[in-house]
This record gives sequence, structure tokens and C-alpha cells, in this order.
Amino acid sequence: MIKLCVNIDHVATIREARKTIEPSPMDAATEACLGGADGITLHIREDRRHVQDEDLFQLRKSIHVPLNLELAATPDMIALALISKPDMAMFVPEGRNEVTTEGGLDVIKEIDRLSQMLLELHEAGIRTSAFVDANNKQIDATLTSGFSVCEIHTGPFAESVIRNDFSLQHPEVQIERDKVQAAVRHALEIGLQCNAGHGLTHHNVSAIASISNISELHIGHSIVSRSVFVGMQSSVREMKNNIKDAMHE
Ligand code: PXP
Repeated sequence: MIKLCVNIDHVATIREARKTIEPSPMDAATEACLGGADGITLHIREDRRHVQDEDLFQLRKSIHVPLNLELAATPDMIALALISKPDMAMFVPEGRNEVTTEGGLDVIKEIDRLSQMLLELHEAGIRTSAFVDANNKQIDATLTSGFSVCEIHTGPFAESVIRNDFSLQHPEVQIERDKVQAAVRHALEIGLQCNAGHGLTHHNVSAIASISNISELHIGHSIVSRSVFVGMQSSVREMKNNIKDAMHE
């Protein structure tokens, strides 16, 4: 069964809109776990626009499923990971003006710097993942740098679904889905664990969950959005059911 890691950043986005104490990312993580989340993911951005360091420390103390920290490849963020000790550090590119992560990490360009950073994290027992586009050369560089996991960027697939009236059968959508599938196959062939995420929704997840041997899906915005209407537990449960159904089709 593919594991579902729930990204709770956008609960903190609502809280930060008022700089108050609710809704609590901690409560969101607890509810997500009750709904069946296999892991909790959060992204501490350099500008701290949503999740704060204190959220990370509280979650580390309290949740009993794996905790994944998304982070930019900077010395400050590595230091934070070494103090907080998430189960997995997930490297993502970060731009100040972006609304959300816009593309995969250019691992090829940063190979030497990333390799150095990974050594410290591995010594501390933290697994490492790189968020990359569906591109074999980037996936190869992920392995060369020392990452044990790669997460394939499903954003282009998700955008093609929106562009094509939400049809999962549209040829353009199928092309984007096949690119993800080919990337997953390549990552597995060279010995990486392969995860996927970004832009996945209750509607489009079936096309990605039907790809064989993906280990984890990392999903945030759609789960938090639906939780506004049905609650976090139900939103997570629906997503898990959609994933399960797609795997058995
Ligand atoms: N994976 C990575 C690497 C991300 O940066 C994000 C967004 O924080 C996600 C998955 C989740 O994306 P979404 O919120 O669109 O589900």
C-alpha cells in the first residue's frame, strides 16, 4: 500500500493570516493521524510564512508517525534539522516570491554542495530525499549526491489536469502521467526509494496512485482544503480510499 504523508503547512497558513493561535498544526496532525495518515510533512520556509520552528518542535515531541521536514539547502535549515531530528529531510528549491514550490531541485548543478550537507544529516540518522522533476539525469544526480529517496514532482501532471477540464483521460494528461511513471521506474531501477507529490487532489490522485511501486505520496493543499468542509479525519480517509481504489484497479 502506498503511504500517505499529509502536509499540514496550510493549516499554519490560516493561523498566520491572523497571527493567532488557531487553527493549530499540532491538532491538524493529530486529526490527520486519526484519519489514517502514515506520516506528517511540513515545510519550514526561510521566510517562516506558515509553519514556525515551534510547530516543528511540538510535532517532533508529540506525533508517533514519521515526521518529514521539507527544507531549502541552506546551512540554517540543516542546523534546524540537526536540532529537531525529523525522520526525513526533504530538500526542495525555494524562491521568496513563489506561492508554492515551483519546480524540482537542480541536483546536477548543486551536487557537491548537497553531498556535503547530506553527510551531516546521515550521521545524525536522518534520511534524505530530493524533490526532482521527472528527469532521468536529475534522478541519477540524486543517487550520486547520496540521497536515498527521490520525490518526483507531479505538479506538471496536476496542471495539465486543470488545463484539460479535469479529464484524466485527456492525451496531454496521459503524457504527463507517463513521464511520472517513467521517472518512477528509473528511480527504482537505480536503487532509490521513490515518492511523489505536489498538486495532487482527491480527484487526480488515482492516476498517480496507479503507478506501481511508489512508496509515499506527499499531499497537502487538497487535503486541508477539503477538511474545511468535512473535517481533517474524513478528508484524509477519503484520500486514502481513493489511493487504495486506484491501486486495485
Ligand atoms: N511535495 C513537496 C516537495 C512540496 O513542496 C509540497 C508543497 O509543500 C508538496 C509535496 C505538497 O503539495 P500540495 O500542497 O500541492 O499537495
